[in-house]
Amino acid sequence: MPVSLTSLTADLAATYTEVLRRNASHLNLTPSERDRTPEEHAAAWADPAEGNIRFAVLLDGRLIGRVDLDPVNPPKYSIGYWIDADHTGRGHATTAVALAVEHALDELGATDVYAGVTHGNHTSVAVLHRNGFTRVADLGTYERFHLPLDGGPPRNP
Ligand SMILES: CC(C)(COP(=O)(O)OP(=O)(O)OC[C@H]1O[C@@H](n2cnc3c(N)ncnc32)[C@H](O)[C@@H]1OP(=O)(O)O)[C@@H](O)C(=O)NCCC(=O)NCCS
Repeated sequence: MPVSLTSLTADLAATYTEVLRRNASHLNLTPSERDRTPEEHAAAWADPAEGNIRFAVLLDGRLIGRVDLDPVNPPKYSIGYWIDADHTGRGHATTAVALAVEHALDELGATDVYAGVTHGNHTSVAVLHRNGFTRVADLGTYERFHLPLDGGPPRNP
């Protein structure tokens, strides 16, 4: 399979920084987020307070995005993701989310995965629907989606 996940660790910080900077407008980054150096990214990832399980999304071994599992209240997790604008529209986010959900279930024993999507981000909603998520709440500026992994119904926490 061409798309795979690998831990996003300090050895990938230089490549990650280059891809992130190219995507500053695609990702609506603030100037300070855009200008973060590889060393600053690596230091943030090494901070024990930064509890996210971080993955680089690889296409044939090249970094094209990122997906995170945020341990909001284990075994409940929240998911976040982005794909390099040069590689969107080909199902890669859909695959990356599927692989992260598989990891959450098999390696973390997750019972629930949640996602928050800003109103109007139809592509992201399509990614979630293709992965079996259901919209469970409208929270004003964004909507919450849920994927139950414990056989229960979709629910708002
Ligand atoms: C949202 C985002 C992650 C989508 O990434 P993506 O890789 O383009 O997503 P996918 O390709 O899996 O799905 C999007 C489109 O690709 C097409 N597609 C899906 N599977 C496909 C496949 N197997 N083959 C070809 N095309 C496919 C579909 O047309 C789909 O569009 P749709 O919205 O009409 O259904 C990306 O645009 C992004 O990084 N946006 C900025 C950050 C962001 O919004 N992150 C999400 C926060 S909630």
